[in-house]
Amino acid sequence: MEQLEKFRLNDGSTIPAVGLGTVNVQGAKGVNSVLSALENGYRLIDTSTNYMNEGMVGEAIRRSNVPREEIMVSSKLPGAAHDYDKAITMIQESLYRLGLDYFDKYLIHWPLPKQDKYDQAWQALVDAQKFGLIKTIGVSNFLEEHLNKIIDKTGVTPATNQIERHPYFNNNELVETNKKLGILSEAWSPFGREINDVIEHQTIIDIGQKYGKSPTQTILRWNIQNGVMPIVKSSSSEHQRANLNIFDFSLDEEDIKAIDALDQGEPGRVEGQHPNEYEEYS
Ligand SMILES: NC(=O)c1ccc[n+]([C@@H]2O[C@H](COP(=O)([O-])OP(=O)(O)OC[C@H]3O[C@@H](n4cnc5c(N)ncnc54)[C@H](OP(=O)(O)O)[C@@H]3O)[C@@H](O)[C@H]2O)c1
Repeated sequence: MEQLEKFRLNDGSTIPAVGLGTVNVQGAKGVNSVLSALENGYRLIDTSTNYMNEGMVGEAIRRSNVPREEIMVSSKLPGAAHDYDKAITMIQESLYRLGLDYFDKYLIHWPLPKQDKYDQAWQALVDAQKFGLIKTIGVSNFLEEHLNKIIDKTGVTPATNQIERHPYFNNNELVETNKKLGILSEAWSPFGREINDVIEHQTIIDIGQKYGKSPTQTILRWNIQNGVMPIVKSSSSEHQRANLNIFDFSLDEEDIKAIDALDQGEPGRVEGQHPNEYEEYS
């Protein structure tokens, strides 16, 4: 089993260098898939109220031989619960669904600036951490202006910001902003979310071949060497193992630049996922 490397967060804790994504991973099949990931060495499970699978994640954790305290469970606050009181209740309800008494990490899923209540939601996460419901607090899909607003209002900087990032939309400016603020970037859809062909791009295939690695391993390594934690989904045990077999090689600076050069800017973004436009009110 691979020993996962770790990143250190601004709250003093550490986090595995790769996390397991769970979008569309549900029910009994989902339990088996998360169990297999835990056996294969994953120690961070990324879920969300809106993935409608928190119960499945809790069930897998209960059935696993891996002790609860070795697993980082991370969920996300939905848009309908940005009001302060609703946010606190939602965190408690999420814990009941999982059958856990604390979250290792909890994020605001989207800023929803048109609704403009994410500062209340952030205050709720800050307080929920004080109440012992959450260990590490962070955000997702926050742009610089959203980060500055919540930091100014509460004096508390998120530990992580989970953002879209794959070679066609590398989001490097936001990664740099996060770094400047001491926030770890997490990359969602590192392989372009099943909808683009980035893992078949010849540049990435060629770079991987230099090191005897696959395109997916090359993309994960590119993230880690940029100080970014990828959240990767796989329901295949073989792929799960391959995705952790990335700590025995290093990409050259020129390889990293070549992957950076595949960025397409805004057109490369997954359609409809701009943080200022995306609406998620349920
Ligand atoms: N915060 C947010 O707003 C947000 C948004 C989107 C996603 N996320 C998080 O990020 C996670 C990852 O993103 P994603 O689920 O969109 O997609 P992804 O991880 O970019 O890609 C998943 C796809 O890649 C395939 N794959 C995985 N490993 C592979 C390998 N070694 N070789 C070949 N194919 C491989 C998987 O197929 P197999 O199952 O067959 O391996 C699956 O089809 C999500 O599950 C979720 O937890 C967060």
